[in-house]
Amino acid sequence: MKKLIDLISEEVTEAFVREGYDAKYGRVTLSNRPDLCEYQCNGAMAAAKEYHCAPFQISEKVAAALGDSRLFSMAESVKPGFLNLKLSEEYLAAYLEQMAADQGRFGCSRAEKPKTIMVDYGGANVAKPLHVGHLRSAIIGESVKRIGKFMGHHMIGDVHLGDWGLQMGLIIVELKERQPMLAYFDEGYQGEYPKEPPFTIAQLEEIYPTASGKSKEDPVFKEAAMEATLQLQQGRRGYRALLKHILDVSVEDLKKNYANLNVSFELWKGESDSQPYIADMVEQMKARGHAYVSEGALVVDVKEETDTKEIPPCMILKSDGAALYDTTDLATLIWRMQDYDPDEIIYLADKRQELHFIQVFRCARKTGLVKPDTELKFLGFGTMNGRDGKPFKTRDGGVMRLQYLVEEINEEMYKKIAENHVVEESEGRETARTVALAAIKYGDLSNQASKDYVFDIERFTSFEGNTGPYILYTIVRMKSILSKYFEQHALPADARLLPAATESEKSLMLELSRFNGVMESAYEESAPHKICAYMYDLANDFNHFYHETKIMAQEDAAVQAGYIRMLMLCKGILEVCIDVLGFSAPDKM
Ligand code: ARG
Repeated sequence: MKKLIDLISEEVTEAFVREGYDAKYGRVTLSNRPDLCEYQCNGAMAAAKEYHCAPFQISEKVAAALGDSRLFSMAESVKPGFLNLKLSEEYLAAYLEQMAADQGRFGCSRAEKPKTIMVDYGGANVAKPLHVGHLRSAIIGESVKRIGKFMGHHMIGDVHLGDWGLQMGLIIVELKERQPMLAYFDEGYQGEYPKEPPFTIAQLEEIYPTASGKSKEDPVFKEAAMEATLQLQQGRRGYRALLKHILDVSVEDLKKNYANLNVSFELWKGESDSQPYIADMVEQMKARGHAYVSEGALVVDVKEETDTKEIPPCMILKSDGAALYDTTDLATLIWRMQDYDPDEIIYLADKRQELHFIQVFRCARKTGLVKPDTELKFLGFGTMNGRDGKPFKTRDGGVMRLQYLVEEINEEMYKKIAENHVVEESEGRETARTVALAAIKYGDLSNQASKDYVFDIERFTSFEGNTGPYILYTIVRMKSILSKYFEQHALPADARLLPAATESEKSLMLELSRFNGVMESAYEESAPHKICAYMYDLANDFNHFYHETKIMAQEDAAVQAGYIRMLMLCKGILEVCIDVLGFSAPDKM
């Protein structure tokens, strides 16, 4: 469906043209004086310069030309030359009726030319526990992916695990110290390696921090870890077999963790999957003269004349020949292009990685790893801080593990729900999980991604204010009205949304009509926060309407049926919104 604002602009544009003015002056925007009008057009102000007359003369003529338009209940020219517009209640109701009939999409059309878009998010580092820094990547990336999918694009999420760096060498060396007799460490060993991993996830999660601690104090240990990393990268058999075990054990655990967040990936690739492409890529970069040796390392220059700050060269290989973060990201592009030929790749990572992505993107273009029209986008997110404004920590100051954070909020939510009413424990726990997830995700997504934000459990779990639970509470309210209605009635076949009879009803209807435009811009700007802001406005408008209107006690059956249809539309829209944000609503709370 066409956006309402476009239909309005077209109508006004035609009026300008009919009066002899250029079409470009007819653009309409939402009013910034809602006390005076709903929409406005300031085109006469600009047109006055071209037509050498007072703006008011133009706005007067256009207003008159709109006098019999079926779109407006008011088209008023005000000095010095603005057009103030109010939408006709009948026209608005008819537009919403069309939206309501458009099941599941509510007036939001799918992209005419669907793109293939890869979203690189999650980015967990294997063998290291997921911490809150990874929470943002997972939450925002999942939402960006779902928004794209809703808009009709072919979206492919790749978790892009960190599994090719020094942490692998650290684990290998620590394991070797603990169990030197394992076949993985015997270079002469030719046989098959055991199927069973030599550690559990709990052990693995202890091995890594221990090894990492040692490497900071013991240069010999660190040297050994670097050597092991390089040997792994060069394909030493026993180490590759260990890598596989580490991956299997970690991935199983990660899948559980991500599933608890309602996050899932189409691809479970990692940095290590780029390994088969590295050698060739490096050769080509050398052969074409892009890569050269600088201070022992192999680098590609990526600075451009227009740079205002220094952009250092992209590092392709360390002096010992080891691959780096740049290397794996570049080589990953090779299989991504080969296997999926994406139109676009969106990367999510902490915004402090921006320079890395600038270097990688430039290097990829310069060396022809991607087609000129493949878009590479970096969506850098800010830090999640605690209430003290510093990066989020546990109570005793340690790095907060995601799992514990989620458990803490589930518990908090359960307490609230149990306080509010008597529930069966298992049902209450289930509801608490659903609401807690909304609290966490909405708390994150309602901020513009690039900004730092304060993770405030108390505020996020509140049922009032701009929070996930408030939105869910509003949906639950709609569900309960609808189920009460449908217990007593069936919706008459000729039920229609009726023209608004009150101010609160009209504001709700105007808000509903914006849905397709909001989705479209949230997609175009990879901006889930726009959907949050819309939901919050919509929920407020609905609650206002609800408090002023007798729905269940309405005696006129047609009016009541109209309300019900509008409620269904409103609930449907909010449900699409929370679904693309990656959470859901319970039936009761
Ligand atoms: N593993 C990285 C980290 O923990 C994030 C990976 C982001 N994606 C990428 N293609 N570099 O910071």
